[in-house]
Amino acid sequence: MGVKATTRSIRALKGTRPIVCLTAYDAVTARIADQGGADLILVGDSVGNTVLGMADTVGVTLEMMVHHTAAVVRAKPNALVIADLPFGLAHDSFPNLLKACRALLQQGGAQGVKIEGGASLAKHIEKLVDAGIPVMGHVGLMPQRVHATGYRRRGLTPADQVRLFADAQAVADAGAFSIVVECVDASFMPKITAAVDVPTIGIGSGDGCDGQILVIHDLLGLTPEPPPFVKPLAHLHKDAVTAVQRWARQVRQGGRR
Ligand code: KIV
Repeated sequence: MGVKATTRSIRALKGTRPIVCLTAYDAVTARIADQGGADLILVGDSVGNTVLGMADTVGVTLEMMVHHTAAVVRAKPNALVIADLPFGLAHDSFPNLLKACRALLQQGGAQGVKIEGGASLAKHIEKLVDAGIPVMGHVGLMPQRVHATGYRRRGLTPADQVRLFADAQAVADAGAFSIVVECVDASFMPKITAAVDVPTIGIGSGDGCDGQILVIHDLLGLTPEPPPFVKPLAHLHKDAVTAVQRWARQVRQGGRR
């Protein structure tokens, strides 16, 4: 039994050592991430495209997030467990937003929520933090906005850099305990990390972050076409297919009854 991570212990890691974060969607992947030494497990809404066969994260519902969060929590990880707030809810009325976040903590068992969005959500984030809901921000590429802005890399123009900077600062000032920064130009990332007093957790944003996060299926080689910035460190899909083929051969030859 190790020591259970908290939002405060994760926040305190800024400037001490890089923070290791992975997604997980069920008890199996939560145990792998936790035993492998992740500091933070994100029950990402990437469950939609990674596990549930969806094209993107837009169709993921609160009920799905509660279901998958509860499965991760049942593995009793020492890592901090954060659940993604699904598409649209952060822009709903504050009472509805609070209700959704409460479901993720009370029914799912998460220790906090992650919210995609920048300066325009700062007021909501501040009120959630005031209500005792730890919030992880998410700026840069926001997959929930795929139909509005697509999946392109961020921070490539001066105007976009100004916007990104303002978003990250507003989310940090609103009380987020850390911020995911997705697919931001690597040369601009250190400026964001230096400007905010909470850990920046990068994905596809280079080394200038306080920590890194990956989708566990990408890292383990379970995704047919992982994003270009991921170098899988295992090939579990290939190994699993080989195992099934071997067993199928044994059965067809009359063995393994
Ligand atoms: O949903 C998710 O998995 C995420 C990570 C990619 C940061 O938001």
